Amino acid sequence: MDGFKALLVKEENGAVVCSLEEITTEQLSPGNVLIKVAYSSVNYKDYLAVQTGGGVIRNYPMIPGIDLSGTVVSSEDDRFQTGQEVLVTGFQMGMSHTGGYAEYARIPADWIVPLPAGLSLRDAMVIGTAGFTAALSINALESAGMNPENNPEILVTGAAGGVGSIAVQLLARSGYRNINALSKNAQKDEAVLGTQRFHYVLDVVGGGIASALLPQIHYGGSMSMCGNAGGVSIQTTVMPFILRGVNLLGIDSVNYPAAGRPAIWERFAGQWHVMADSIVREVGLSDLPQVFDEIRQGTHMGRNIVKHG
Ligand SMILES: NC(=O)c1ccc[n+]([C@@H]2O[C@H](COP(=O)([O-])OP(=O)(O)OC[C@H]3O[C@@H](n4cnc5c(N)ncnc54)[C@H](OP(=O)(O)O)[C@@H]3O)[C@@H](O)[C@H]2O)c1
Repeated sequence: MDGFKALLVKEENGAVVCSLEEITTEQLSPGNVLIKVAYSSVNYKDYLAVQTGGGVIRNYPMIPGIDLSGTVVSSEDDRFQTGQEVLVTGFQMGMSHTGGYAEYARIPADWIVPLPAGLSLRDAMVIGTAGFTAALSINALESAGMNPENNPEILVTGAAGGVGSIAVQLLARSGYRNINALSKNAQKDEAVLGTQRFHYVLDVVGGGIASALLPQIHYGGSMSMCGNAGGVSIQTTVMPFILRGVNLLGIDSVNYPAAGRPAIWERFAGQWHVMADSIVREVGLSDLPQVFDEIRQGTHMGRNIVKHG
């Protein structure tokens, strides 16, 4: 196979730099399925991956990109055939295993999900890790009692970003009516126990925003927590938990078991088909440095997807 394009992240004199280069399949991490990548996406974690001290990549050089969709070129695993359309999110991709910011990827079969009927390769990346995480957050809140029949008051933080914007759409498609979206300019409230305003909070931001919201959750309510865009520390007392029975639900999309993934993607192909409502911008590999700058400045909206070729 001839050379193909990839975004390579390297460490030079202690600083992380990235450049678009021509590489060969020998530079891809090992795996039993070779995929021609059609689309990838840009998540907050991909932005962190190209920052000095970002904490996502430990061994350089690396190809970032925690999501990809594409077509199987060759497979040593019976579950996947040449020509089959597939998607991959999370696991070690874009961290310690070369990821989606290249025209080809070699991936362990255990990480791969067949593309469900009803979703295109592009749709899968409009959703990507962001949508998958929004779905896991909603599933966790519903397991804790959230139900459209009770008409709960729901708050989504970081609602202009990838996870938050898709979460708002999925909640609406699931029949919820009282969906509030919080932006980072909201006033911070540091009360130990505040007025009970929300039954459920889908938190994407963490930090001071999550800290301020815990005391505002109704008796028996829950907050799901998936992100750290607003900081990794939270400050709380035990009061929301011991006086109001509030639940804090941790969400991880990276190592979510492979066996549970296809059912979630099937839901995206049906009831949760949110593509028409999504703010999506299509970019090429060479546009990525500019997209990362926008994330740094907080000027991006919705989802950026990367089209290859
Ligand atoms: N646990 C998991 O498996 C998992 C999976 C995916 C993502 N995540 C995490 O979830 C978060 C969101 O990811 P994403 O891909 O949706 O990122 P994104 O598109 O960059 O969205 C993040 C949003 O957070 C808000 N925000 C950013 N900086 C903030 C600050 N300093 N204070 C308050 N709000 C701030 C902004 O929304 P507003 O302008 O609306 O405030 C921003 O649009 C990230 O922390 C990411 O690491 C975790």
